[in-house]
Amino acid sequence: MEAMRAPDDRLLKRISNREAAIGVVGLGYVGLPLAITFAEAGFSVLGLEVDRRKIASIESGESYINDIASEPLAKLSASGRLKATSDFSRTAELDCIIICVPTPLTLAREPDMSFIVQTGESLVPHMKRGQLFILESTSYPGTTDEVLRPILEKSGLKAGVDFHLAYSPEREDPGNKRFNTKTIPKIVGGYTPRCLEVAQALYGAALNETVAVSSTRVAELTKLLENIFRCVNIALVNELKMLCDRMDMDVWEVIQAASTKPFGFMPFLPGPGLGGHCIPIDPFYLTWKARQFEFQTKFIELAGEVNA
Ligand SMILES: NC(=O)c1ccc[n+]([C@@H]2O[C@H](COP(=O)([O-])OP(=O)(O)OC[C@H]3O[C@@H](n4cnc5c(N)ncnc54)[C@H](O)[C@@H]3O)[C@@H](O)[C@H]2O)c1
Repeated sequence: MEAMRAPDDRLLKRISNREAAIGVVGLGYVGLPLAITFAEAGFSVLGLEVDRRKIASIESGESYINDIASEPLAKLSASGRLKATSDFSRTAELDCIIICVPTPLTLAREPDMSFIVQTGESLVPHMKRGQLFILESTSYPGTTDEVLRPILEKSGLKAGVDFHLAYSPEREDPGNKRFNTKTIPKIVGGYTPRCLEVAQALYGAALNETVAVSSTRVAELTKLLENIFRCVNIALVNELKMLCDRMDMDVWEVIQAASTKPFGFMPFLPGPGLGGHCIPIDPFYLTWKARQFEFQTKFIELAGEVNA
């Protein structure tokens, strides 16, 4: 690990001087606001994207995401601070690479790792010693260590020795006017304590608050807990709504009344569909992983059933 000290210190210095070149893989709902946040903090950001229409939009300074205005994007693009490409060989120019690609479910409702795997494979030929790689895609505990790390190590470089590796979940809430990428506290878990230190330094240079946890696994599970918490509580009020219909009561009145309790209660609202594409999917990443430990996540499965 000692051998890593010198490149580490160089990278930390480059981060604190805003000289570090940042790559964001996948400029979607998560990647684009993140890329903008780092560019606005003074970094040069290069988006690595497979969708050429998104690359063209970045070049012409036009936003393709509802909640992101074109104006700041156009400014950053014109100044050259934010660029996009599909050429992964440019990974070699970057100091820090943040991966924000999709993690859907397969037809068999199992975690679809294909986007993470494909991204890893595209990065490998261009990796350099001393770089930092961070996964942000939501996934089950173990993904960074068991899926991404072995792919990146095909480069011949070792995580925690030759390059840094970390996981940091995204907490984007599209449309929320109170919080944005910069102001939402950022959970960070490193493959080693040194990986954590470097990843925290990077986020700390652009975001208001980082929260360190002891491993990439803990960071991965933290994100799933947040979404499972919502999924299960929405199922609970959906069940109550169905009972209230039979008992001829207004569930909204009950929830509103319960919300006057100043402690220990948080309102969740019933509805015909779960919001976004995270809550209906992410909990099943844990259900799948739990099976490898001969454990059944009964709450999650029941919540899925009630919500369906
Ligand atoms: N949308 C949200 O509100 C939200 C919130 C928290 C976490 N997440 C998680 O973040 C991750 C990304 O979600 P999103 O909503 O931004 O998805 P998205 O579909 O909006 O964006 C993903 C982007 O990655 C690109 N991409 C796919 N494969 C690629 C590859 N091999 N190389 C480069 N680019 C590639 C796609 O073209 C797309 O632009 C997912 O794991 C999701 O669960 C999303």
